[in-house]
Amino acid sequence: MVTNNKESNKRSSISSKFNQSLLTLFLVLVLILIPIVYYLTKTQVLAQANKELTLLVDMVKSVRNVVREDTRPHFTPKGEFFPVVVSSTVMAKTVAEKFARVRPEYYIKIFSDNPLNADDYPDELEKELLQRFRQNKELKSVVETGVIRGQQYLLSSAPATVKKGCLLCHGDPARAPLAISKKYGTQSGYGWTVGNVIGGSAVGVPLENINAIAVERTLYALLALAFIFGVLYVYINTTVRRNIISPIREIAEKAKKISRGDLGNALETDRDDEIGELSNSFEMMRRSFISLVRRIKANNTA
Ligand code: HEC
Repeated sequence: MVTNNKESNKRSSISSKFNQSLLTLFLVLVLILIPIVYYLTKTQVLAQANKELTLLVDMVKSVRNVVREDTRPHFTPKGEFFPVVVSSTVMAKTVAEKFARVRPEYYIKIFSDNPLNADDYPDELEKELLQRFRQNKELKSVVETGVIRGQQYLLSSAPATVKKGCLLCHGDPARAPLAISKKYGTQSGYGWTVGNVIGGSAVGVPLENINAIAVERTLYALLALAFIFGVLYVYINTTVRRNIISPIREIAEKAKKISRGDLGNALETDRDDEIGELSNSFEMMRRSFISLVRRIKANNTA
């Protein structure tokens, strides 16, 4: 029994070596796969968000241009200061509000820390941006990821710099159009100075959860890899058993018989590979043994 056990251990060693290399290869591939899937997912999600973001930013710019190029030149000479047709910011805000009704997942905000409308007060991230725009006047826009109210966005923001025309509504509250001072009061949103960065705009596209998608994709990739390796495992093991282990065992059995003096079993093979060579060598040895034995016997009888 003991020798049998040893033998079976030895017998399985070729396939277990194959299996070990297969397992190592599998683990190496898994280790390579995880960072690659994560990297590709991240690049793809960001590229997708970036595409949407430029689209949205350009749309907001175009909306502002409607006021600058079309409605303001038409209404201002007539002394009409209805904000939505005179201020591109108000137009952009109005469009953003209506857009939010149909697409609440997108983020469009025009903010100032001295606002007419208290809703436009910047939140944490926007305060930080405002500070950066004030410190660096060269900074014309920033695109980065950020969290607002628990949601991760890809955000594009730009500073709002006070120009002379803004003072019509944001200058001296006593001289502001009545519609404005009536609606927003006279406390906040006035006294802006030309050239100052008074606020900014932020346009955000929701970012899908990169980690969750990466984990899901990695799982699928692992499943596919495990399936491929499973098939490979079965295939290699049956092939190794059929073509290497069984014939070697057969040769070993016959070699054992020869060693016990049983010379009657010919080793026949039609293989022309290494196993065939081994089998043929044994067969030659067996025949040499037979003739040797015959010669010895003849010598003895003579
Ligand atoms: C015709 C009046 C008018 C003019 C001119 C005007 N604005 Fe405004 N602006 C408003 C009104 C009204 C609001 C508030 C809209 C709302 O209800 O949210 C506003 C809001 C803003 C806000 C958001 C913060 C806040 O005050 O609520 C920014 C930033 C802003 N304007 C920047 C500008 C800049 C920069 C200019 C000049 C390039 C300008 N505005 C010119 C009327 C005007």
